[in-house]
Amino acid sequence: MKLSLLASILIPVASAKQRVLNAFGEPSYGVDVSFPVHHITFAQDRPLGDRQKLYDDFMAGCRRHYSDNSQACDVTEEDRVEMSVRQPASMRNYTSTGFKKVQAPAHVFDLLSNYWNTHYDRREQEKWPRGDTYVNHWESPTFMVNVEETSLRGGGQNLKRKIWEGVRPILEEWTGMELEPSSMYGIRQYTEGAILSPHADRNPLITSCIINVAQDLEEDWPLEVYGRDGLAYNVTMKPGDMVLYESHSLIHGRPFPMKGKYFANIFIHFQPTGKILREQNAPVVTSKGENGIPIYILPNSPQAKKWLREHPPQISFRNVKESPAAAESPLSDVAHAAATGDIASMTHFVANQKHMLHMKDSNGWQPIHEAARGGHLDVVQLLVEHGADVNERTHFGDGQSVLELVLDTHGYDHPLFGYLEGIGAEL
Ligand SMILES: *[C@@H]1O[C@H](CO)[C@@H](O)[C@H](O)[C@H]1NC(C)=O
Ligand SMILES: *[C@@H]1O[C@H](CO)[C@@H](O)[C@H](O)[C@H]1NC(C)=O
Repeated sequence: MKLSLLASILIPVASAKQRVLNAFGEPSYGVDVSFPVHHITFAQDRPLGDRQKLYDDFMAGCRRHYSDNSQACDVTEEDRVEMSVRQPASMRNYTSTGFKKVQAPAHVFDLLSNYWNTHYDRREQEKWPRGDTYVNHWESPTFMVNVEETSLRGGGQNLKRKIWEGVRPILEEWTGMELEPSSMYGIRQYTEGAILSPHADRNPLITSCIINVAQDLEEDWPLEVYGRDGLAYNVTMKPGDMVLYESHSLIHGRPFPMKGKYFANIFIHFQPTGKILREQNAPVVTSKGENGIPIYILPNSPQAKKWLREHPPQISFRNVKESPAAAESPLSDVAHAAATGDIASMTHFVANQKHMLHMKDSNGWQPIHEAARGGHLDVVQLLVEHGADVNERTHFGDGQSVLELVLDTHGYDHPLFGYLEGIGAEL
């Protein structure tokens, strides 16, 4: 041990070129070195050695597991890489570094670790979409002790609210922006050998934190992030540590396979409301862009264009009603009834024209989306009882989810939000 350590100090390694150091003085490297991030291929420069085999094995594992549709694995990879290029570059940031490690508030950590310990035996294996390459779940399954699960004592909206409220001041202080919750996911348990592919979170998961709830590791399992300098940083966490990160623009992952039994954490996400709490060095834009583009998206950026495609301007119902063509269309009637909470008409449709309950308009909106945006719990319930899929998105699958529409228009305090979450709706 001693000798080799000495040797490494005294004998210059032939291949050791002058390396760039990141701001923590660590020898560093950029994207596509530890794992593919901006390309499916690795960079020429290989300070970590040849990682191609690790990646080839990773992909082979996915393709074998989904042998009936192995292409799905490659499609997910292409999407991940495309998003890692497009999205961060289209985002406004609210901090200079993009990440910071702090301690979780003691009361929040206590809540989480009690919940974890109490319900550990009732954890459930996480189901991943077919071909999903975000975690190598085909060889290292992940488990959840779900904070949303109302059948677990203490779980549900109340717990989530306490967690959101507990960490919100810390993230508001860090970013200088007023925040509102956008999502919470966990407590996820990773197991031996797990890899989390580096990625940026989808909108509106903007201002976020991860809390390490529990672990049993042989060595630290670093969260690798790419700072504003484009260089990789390893952030290690002990139970009770909390990493703040701008998850919409900071690429983050765990590309080094986990060594140990498990690692359990929770992801807590917010988005800025637009109200400034503390002036920053650089001026902050707080009004929505043209056509209501969220403030965190740079105008004219690729992400802005994508957002506009997914949120085409809505034709108002008045116009629909007045247009003779639309007046012929029975869909506008059912959509109108759903949007306005006209439960009597909806009941009529259920009894007489059931086939219209789930029809899509030209923007791929269904009555359930209209009812969600209108905030009509009774209509949403009626539609669900008659077979509406709560996880259908607008725009033929590319747009907003039912839950997202409720969150955007009415906030997570609205009864519809709790109801939808309770029946498994996803953001
Ligand atoms: C925000 O951060 C990302 C990732 O570091 C960067 O690509 C992007 O240019 C930044 N946005 C602005 C407006 O500087
Ligand atoms: C991060 O940790 C891995 C695994 O321990 C190591 O190989 C890599 O060099 C580290 N990266 C940085 C930037 O320090």
